Amino acid sequence: MTAVEAKGFKIPIIGLGTWALRGRNCARLTEQAIRIGYRHIDTAQMYDNEAEVGEGVRASGMRNEVMVTTKVQPTLLAPRDLERSVKESLAKLRIDHIDLLLIHWPNPRVPLADTLGAMAKMKKAGITRQIGVSNFTVALLDEVNKISSEPLVCDQVECHPFLDQDKVIAACRKHGMAVVAYSPIARGGAKGDRLLERIGKAHGKTAAQVCLRWLTQQGIAVIPRTSKIERLEENFNILDFELSDAEMKEIAGLSRKGGRIVDWTWSPRWD
Ligand SMILES: NC(=O)c1ccc[n+]([C@@H]2O[C@H](COP(=O)([O-])OP(=O)(O)OC[C@H]3O[C@@H](n4cnc5c(N)ncnc54)[C@H](OP(=O)(O)O)[C@@H]3O)[C@@H](O)[C@H]2O)c1
Repeated sequence: MTAVEAKGFKIPIIGLGTWALRGRNCARLTEQAIRIGYRHIDTAQMYDNEAEVGEGVRASGMRNEVMVTTKVQPTLLAPRDLERSVKESLAKLRIDHIDLLLIHWPNPRVPLADTLGAMAKMKKAGITRQIGVSNFTVALLDEVNKISSEPLVCDQVECHPFLDQDKVIAACRKHGMAVVAYSPIARGGAKGDRLLERIGKAHGKTAAQVCLRWLTQQGIAVIPRTSKIERLEENFNILDFELSDAEMKEIAGLSRKGGRIVDWTWSPRWD
């Protein structure tokens, strides 16, 4: 499986995360990732690197084969702010359209119906091909799927073996949405984990690769980030082996209270 399908839209199962990647290095990594075979690049207004990501996409010469995601920051969800900022994102990216536009975080101060109306408008205007959400809980997913006039194709959420996300994954499945896992190697925390290292050894793979395989084997798309060219290949080469049912269960057993890494004052009440 090289892509996850949601509502007729294909999301390449391995993408490059670009949070904290900056300048020349960001453009170079993006270009190199695409040359290796990545077909999904994840950026956001908040990362302040859309220009460099766009530069890397264009330099690859493979723009038409790559899905570019960007996200609207939570302070810009009122319709006028959203529309202006998304047009700015596209101008920074300097590509013909955004492939997937996400609401980065929910913001209870702005009515969701207003934001979704503006997102739908961006889609109808051809500025983005598809829309979706990020950091949405089960309750919020139920709400947006009721009110959105356009299909929402994914929820991008923190997902790795140290965090139990079964509830939100089940909600995505119920609504026909894809799950895109952020921080999929637990910000590097997979490396050095004894169980992941042991299972990796049995397959000739690293702990990070086992971690990414555990997610993709569940039909979850992953967007690992690295600032190192050599790790781009490592994180991409995860589809040529299979974890047994017993290994999948053992890895799921790593989840623990306090396993969440990304949590802010503006986070919703997690499931
Ligand atoms: N929607 C949201 O709110 C949200 C939140 C967080 C992240 N994201 C997205 O998800 C992407 C990925 O998440 P993330 O950046 O938080 O964390 P991550 O991808 O889980 O981990 C990145 C860290 O792991 C290290 N690393 C990468 N490959 C490795 C390997 N093979 N072995 C060992 N260490 C490795 C990297 O260091 P080196 O650079 O040294 O390789 C980096 O420190 C982000 O870049 C961003 O695009 C979205």
